[in-house]
Amino acid sequence: MERLRAAIRDIPDFPKPGILFKDITPLVKDPAALRLAVHHLLHPYIGRDITAVAGMEARGFIFGSLVAWELGVGFVPLRKPGKLPYDVQTISYDLEYGSAALEVHIDALNSGDRVLLIDDLLATGGTAKASCELVEALGAEIVGCAFVVELDELQGRKKLERYPVHSLLHY
Ligand code: PRP
Repeated sequence: MERLRAAIRDIPDFPKPGILFKDITPLVKDPAALRLAVHHLLHPYIGRDITAVAGMEARGFIFGSLVAWELGVGFVPLRKPGKLPYDVQTISYDLEYGSAALEVHIDALNSGDRVLLIDDLLATGGTAKASCELVEALGAEIVGCAFVVELDELQGRKKLERYPVHSLLHY
């Protein structure tokens, strides 16, 4: 894991003063680190009959697609509003200031699906909790949620009490 930690760059005061941003772009540029991250994200879910991977816009698309490829299943994008062209299911959720929403195509998953949710980072957990509920709204089951980075101080894991959570790096 130290190999992965070394590939993540800290950017102070981004996107606003006082925020220390965890930049995963050096990790995804480094083929060995990227392979390692994908391997460790999916490892607990081998043999768990996962039928689909869902990932949140935008950085969840990078890791989620690769995990789906390795597991031999399809990838379902959970997108910011107005991006998906077909009929959608929408979920709105609160942010520290204001609100946000995610959408999924209504036919992307169904009651037979066992879904692994993947994102780069777990912070307050609002995005991940809403994503789990969006997947469940289509009748599918969340088997687990996996993240490259978890910011422990923000206690996002508490919001995900109902789901198994697996993070590669803790800060
Ligand atoms: C980041 C990150 C997660 C989310 C975590 O995405 O990639 O999806 O925030 O935050 P939370 O746990 O407090 O909900 P962001 O909303 O910045 O979108 P982006 O990937 O499109 O930049």
